[in-house]
Amino acid sequence: MCTHMAFGLQHVLHVQVYELWFKQILHEMDSIIAIFKEPYVPESSIGLAVGRLTRVVEIQKILIQQLDVLETMSPVSATCSHQTVSPPPNTLPHAMFVTQMNFLDFRDFLFPASGFQSVQFRLIENKLGLRVDQRMNYGARGYCSYLKERDAAQVHEAEGEASLFDLVEQWLERTPPLAAGTAFDFWKHYRTAVHAMFDEDERSINASTSLPQEAKTAQVEELASQREHFETLFDRSKHDALVARGDRRMSHAATQAALLIWLYRSEPLLQQPYRMLSLLLDMDENLVRWRYRHAQMVHRMLGVKIGTGGSSGYSYLRATANKHKIFGDLFNLSTFLIPQYCLSPLPSAVQRMLRFKIEPNASGAVSPALDAVPEAAAGVQVPTIPEAAAAAAVDKETQPSQPGK
Ligand code: HEM
Repeated sequence: MCTHMAFGLQHVLHVQVYELWFKQILHEMDSIIAIFKEPYVPESSIGLAVGRLTRVVEIQKILIQQLDVLETMSPVSATCSHQTVSPPPNTLPHAMFVTQMNFLDFRDFLFPASGFQSVQFRLIENKLGLRVDQRMNYGARGYCSYLKERDAAQVHEAEGEASLFDLVEQWLERTPPLAAGTAFDFWKHYRTAVHAMFDEDERSINASTSLPQEAKTAQVEELASQREHFETLFDRSKHDALVARGDRRMSHAATQAALLIWLYRSEPLLQQPYRMLSLLLDMDENLVRWRYRHAQMVHRMLGVKIGTGGSSGYSYLRATANKHKIFGDLFNLSTFLIPQYCLSPLPSAVQRMLRFKIEPNASGAVSPALDAVPEAAAGVQVPTIPEAAAAAAVDKETQPSQPGK
């Protein structure tokens, strides 16, 4: 087989395999979106969503690894496919030269085809929640201008629909984070714990006998700036100002709920919501990893030549890796985690409500009971998690059976 044909076969094959997996990813995403579009998300549906997101994340790993095979077409790859080149009469450096030239020749056949024409990739981005104003600009052309009219219409339509980001945000917002004035005021509890943690840190810095005074001053100043940063979480207006500036995206209420899930993730009823959020991070991170890996491959194959789609190629692709991250707020949430020992234990009534337990029934038979939701035993639909967690903390007299609905 001549080199052009070998390159052509490999390229076409890769693109087709990618597109097939993209189709599967879109199928899974659509079904997860349908789950979260419902005003009521039962616990069993969260389990389904977790299973499907796990599949997406596993597919993404294959997509990233596949680039290793594609990269063997690179003129500067250790696994450069010399066997596809007609046996050169002379030395290895000459073979490398021939291979490199052949790739660049082959590239001409690709023109004007470009990754910009993958409609399914654009749909994945939009359905996950990449906003138009967040996209890297290249020239004056819109990101859909490379697509056929019908495909572009489909991608624009996806822009206007609720994305996974939007729907998960709304789902989190429906979790009143153990609101003020109820049996357990999560926010007050957390805030007190944060202040106590900083006070303790400051005390131990000042009490240190090994630190020189300048180091103490510097560390206390650093603590003050960290306290200030936490204020952007406690003070809703500060949080909203960051959202308006584009430094944060998720609403204050959703951020609070996500933090609650993060901090109390070991409670059984919060484990699935925690898995769900973690998988969204995995998916977002895998997209970043794919973008970065693809950019590195392009750097190796094309250097800094412009792409067949007219972008700056490597530098455009590298920049998208960070800029196109979607769940940055959830990544940043770790900033606000505090050690478990700083959090006082949950009141036992709340703890009981966040746990599953096995109880003998009246006839002595043992059956699983969902302690958090007495309605479950009566055959009433179980409130979604994390809503059940929130409901658990609220005075039963004042709490509707399905909070936030
Ligand atoms: C020989 C291997 C490849 C090279 C040299 C290459 C090169 C490039 C370049 C230079 C761009 C920037 C856009 C442009 O100006 O054209 C790009 C974008 C893209 N490529 Fe590739 N590519 C390769 C293989 C693939 C494969 C197999 C896929 C799988 C579908 C793919 C998917 C994409 C996507 C989705 C974009 C758009 C990325 C974005 O806008 O964030 N590429 N590619």
